[in-house]
Formats: sequence, structure tokens, C-alpha cells
Amino acid sequence: MQNELRQWQHHRYSAGRMKIDGATQVVGVFGSPITHTASPAMHNAAFAALKMNWVYLPFQVAVADLRAALQGVRTMNMVGVNLTVPHKIAAVELMDEVDPEACQLGAVNTVVVANNRLVGYNTDGYGFARAIFEEFNLTLKDKRVLVLGAGGAGRAISVKCVLDGAETVWVANRTPGKAAAIQQTAGKDGVVIPIPLTNDAVRQVIGKVDLLVNATSVGLRAADSLSLDPALFTSDLYVYDTIYQPAETELLKLAHAVGAKSANGLSMLLHQGVRAFEIWTKKMAPLAKMRQALKTAVYGDPK
Ligand code: ATR
Repeated sequence: MQNELRQWQHHRYSAGRMKIDGATQVVGVFGSPITHTASPAMHNAAFAALKMNWVYLPFQVAVADLRAALQGVRTMNMVGVNLTVPHKIAAVELMDEVDPEACQLGAVNTVVVANNRLVGYNTDGYGFARAIFEEFNLTLKDKRVLVLGAGGAGRAISVKCVLDGAETVWVANRTPGKAAAIQQTAGKDGVVIPIPLTNDAVRQVIGKVDLLVNATSVGLRAADSLSLDPALFTSDLYVYDTIYQPAETELLKLAHAVGAKSANGLSMLLHQGVRAFEIWTKKMAPLAKMRQALKTAVYGDPK
């Protein structure tokens, strides 16, 4: 997912004695850059746990080479691939078939080869909804959600909120046109409301908001700040930050300080991966193993 671009360190996972032979099934991830990805750790841990003869590899793919690389997935009989920044939107046009939710999100992050055809899915929206349910025991139905950011992550989250029946989705973005574009494509009149990303604009709606989501890239670096007024935060707010490194961003600290329930984006990364795993393998993903591998890859070995 988008967030993977935001990580600084390289994640390494040792699957023990991984055996590669002529029958090994290959999946992977295309991105540029790609060295930061934690997805191989998560998926290879799952294959090892289920004793599957599969491997998940990272591939550096330039924008201009995406079409050829995707044809390679088909011609080399790979099972499928994940797509991360900057390929998710361009890939929609390169699929033979696009799942309806991926179509509505306007982006593909998971490709599977079925009957020699490239079929595109988007598991980011699922990952978000599943993360919110796991972290907060909340569904998006009838919720009033404030999404900060209207880039790839902001779009996927906002549209998923609409698809799952949220009552209102305010999209606050520094560049107003991008939030307005989400409103135009979200499909349901009046649900998505673009607002400026300013304290004044947020102050006007925050009293009505159930769930606040940071989908901007602000928070990755210690020096970054959304400059939100701490007085905007109240204990009855649920706060989700799609950033997971650092584990506690400035936004999450503000939420924490008032006793609001909060969580970081590792759960979204996990669940989009879990769904991709299930699409490719048609097996139930070993959730606990994947979560542990991801945590170790991102935050280091707890030992
Ligand atoms: P991703 O795919 O991770 O969502 P993206 O598409 O590049 O990444 O989007 C980044 C988001 O973070 C955008 O909403 C961006 O705002 P703009 O659309 O105005 O560029 C937001 N963002 C990045 N830096 C920001 C900053 N310093 N202040 C506010 N918003 C910022």
C-alpha cells in the first residue's frame, strides 16, 4: 500500500530454510522505489507457516515498464502481484478485468492471473475497514468520518467509507481540488464533503465526527506537523493514523493525551495483505503469523 513508501528502513525476513525448486509458485510486489517494502516479510512468513511452496519477491518496476512487467506476470505464469506506489492507478487500464470495488476506488493493488487473464482487485479499502473493526470494534456504517488527505490513501479510505454506508465523509486536503475530485467520483450525493485542511475548517465539523483518519504523509518525519490545535481532540473521538512508523505519530500523541481511542496503520497494512493472500491462495491467511512477521520487520525483533 501507499504507506510502504513511507518507511525508511529496509525490512528483512528470514523464512528459515526456504526451499526454492521447480514447483515454487511466485508472487511479489511491483513498486518504485521498492526496497522499503515490509510485504515480503509478511507473506513469506505466511507461506512458511502453512508449509506452502510459494515465494513473495520485491520488484523494482519503473512507471514506463508497468505494462511489460504485468504481461510478464502472465507470460511467466506467476500467481499474481501486489502493486504499490506509483502503479496503482495506472494499472486499472492494464487489467483484462477489474473487480467492482477496485473500479470504484480507481486503483488496483492486487493482481491475480485467472485463465491467463489479469484480474485487478483493491484490498486497501478492505484493509482499512477491517483495521477499524479490529482496533475499535467499529463498522463504517452510519459513521461520520473526517479523512485528512486526498492522495492515494485518502481516496481509497474515503471511497470505502462511502461504499460501507458512512453517513458523512469530510475530506480535508491541503490542495482542495483533490478532495473535490473524490467527492465527484464517490458516487453518492452529499456524503463526501471537501473541506480545507485548516484548524478553522476542522473546528467547524469535529464535534460531529466519530472517526478521524490521517491519510496524509505527515507524521513520517519527526519535524512534520499537521499543526492541528490540541483542543480539537476529545476523549470520545476514534483516531486512526495510516502511518505506522513511527508507531506513535504527533496525531496519535494528541489523541492519547485526551484519552481518545487511537491506533496506527500497521493493522491496515496487515489486513490488505491478508486479503491479497486469500485472493491468491484461496486459503485462510495465518493472521497471527503475518502480524508478528510484520511487527518484527517494521519495529524490530522484540527479544
Ligand atoms: P499516498 O499515496 O500515500 O496517499 P500521495 O498520493 O502522495 O500519497 O498523497 C499524500 C497526501 O499527503 C496528500 O493528501 C498531500 O496533500 P496534497 O494533496 O495537498 O499534496 C498530503 N500532504 C503531504 N505533505 C503534506 C503537508 N506538509 N501538509 C499537509 N498535507 C500534506
